[in-house]
Amino acid sequence: PTPCCSLRPKALLCSVSRFAYSVGIGLCSGLDAAMQTEAMPLVHKFKLVEAPAHESTFPKGAPWVRYHGNYKGLHIDLVLPGKDAVLGVDSVGTVSAALLTSFSIQTLKPDLIINAGTAGGFKAKGASIGDVFLASDVSFHDRRIPIPVFDMYGIGARKTSAVPNILKELNLKIGKLSTGDSLDMSPQDEKVILSNDATVKDMEGAAVAYVADMFSTPAIFVKAVTDIVDGEKPTSEEFLQNLIAVTAALDLAVTKVVDFISGKRISDL
Ligand code: ADE
Repeated sequence: PTPCCSLRPKALLCSVSRFAYSVGIGLCSGLDAAMQTEAMPLVHKFKLVEAPAHESTFPKGAPWVRYHGNYKGLHIDLVLPGKDAVLGVDSVGTVSAALLTSFSIQTLKPDLIINAGTAGGFKAKGASIGDVFLASDVSFHDRRIPIPVFDMYGIGARKTSAVPNILKELNLKIGKLSTGDSLDMSPQDEKVILSNDATVKDMEGAAVAYVADMFSTPAIFVKAVTDIVDGEKPTSEEFLQNLIAVTAALDLAVTKVVDFISGKRISDL
């Protein structure tokens, strides 16, 4: 677990990892219309500006996008993994999330990371469409290494930074998050997700947590449910159907979290 330090949070890193299949092209030059639509409410709310490529701290070739600014005494960097250079779709999944998190921690030096995104939810564990969860724990469900100790390494279970006052004050749900690189769920994934006791499943959280822990940076995980994994509807269909409405709920929740954080020490969260 990453212990919360008692620094006043000056620098916040919001990494937004939700994705939209509906978006078209956009290669490396920035956000295309749909992704921009999703990120814009937060960019406007916090009055952030995009860091232009020529003064970007990101390495040449990385499709990552950063907005930054000051909001209620906090310095906020909002980073997005950007588009795949060849296919033009959002760079979803653990590889881009880990790379972006690592580079962002080292160059932007956030006091706290907020990883916000969409997730599939399990109704058997109390999740409904539009619910916003804070993850108490994260783990992986698609890293099967059946050799003693490597099995535990594969699962990579860790507690997230405890934020009891955010939970109490903002009325968010709490649950365990399981991460894998697939939107769908194979029978093997399902077994591991059950054993991970997860309420929500995403494609980035545990990777962000791994890197945040490595560099002793507190991180919280705000995940909004777009689809019910143990329901009747096909995941991709339900995900696309609910993406826009649920993204609005996610943005609202992130805004409330940031408003709550403003003026507080990390140990007060
Ligand atoms: N993001 C939204 N829905 C998801 C799902 N079912 N699995 C993984 N990531 C998701």
